[in-house]
Amino acid sequence: MRFDILTLFPEMFAGVFESSIIGRARERGYVEIALHNIRDYAAGKHRVTDDTPYSGGGGMIMKPDPIFNTIEHVLGVEVPVEGYATLVASKKIESPATVYPPIILLTPQGRVFNQAIARELATHERLMMICGRYEGVDERVRQYLVTDEISIGDYVLSGGEIPTMVLVDTLIRLIPGVLGDEAATTKDSHSNGLLEYPHYTRPPEYRGHAIPEILLSGHHAKLEIWRRQQSLARTLSRRPDLLTKAELSEADHAFIESLRMGE
Ligand code: ADE
Repeated sequence: MRFDILTLFPEMFAGVFESSIIGRARERGYVEIALHNIRDYAAGKHRVTDDTPYSGGGGMIMKPDPIFNTIEHVLGVEVPVEGYATLVASKKIESPATVYPPIILLTPQGRVFNQAIARELATHERLMMICGRYEGVDERVRQYLVTDEISIGDYVLSGGEIPTMVLVDTLIRLIPGVLGDEAATTKDSHSNGLLEYPHYTRPPEYRGHAIPEILLSGHHAKLEIWRRQQSLARTLSRRPDLLTKAELSEADHAFIESLRMGE
């Protein structure tokens, strides 16, 4: 998978993209990440990338030209007046080698990111991401360039760089082979619509607190039931909203009902 990231602050990504799972995935060739400094594509001696809004109200707006220029340079295409989406739509009738990846703008106005959106985005070979800054980006970037807008939650950060790191980390974990243990992502919290059951490691007793006995019993079938029930109980108490969408068996429903009745 390849990520092309458009930013005014490429240096922000260094530590995160060089360490741990992302660093290893890059070294092993599972993922390629290219950082593009939007300022490099801005016109004039001062390479200005922002300007004041026409509507007044203060703050600075990212100019459209440097962002369009960066995309056109990186993809080697000219964005038609009708917009980039028309190129994406024409992809099917052109040669298979011509691929126009989604262009995602990270913004608090986007659809709110979750594991299902991560799985959907991970089906693409390549993604372009635009990190917004200042008060926002010129609306024509939204209208004629961007094909998707994503928020990482209902709060406002200083820019799209950290949200981009969140997306990249989440998507890389879904690439087969990256985590080594293939099963790991399918057991993660949220991957089945529920929160994960609790984990323990050695020692079996720590400061007088023993681990649940079932974990030492060696009874695999009972352990599976215990994990499922822990997962359901945790989701019910912390994120009951998730239960309405999760896939639940009759036994799951009965267990949840027993919890609700306070049994
Ligand atoms: N830029 C600023 N805040 C953001 C958020 N919550 N999600 C995505 N991009 C952002």
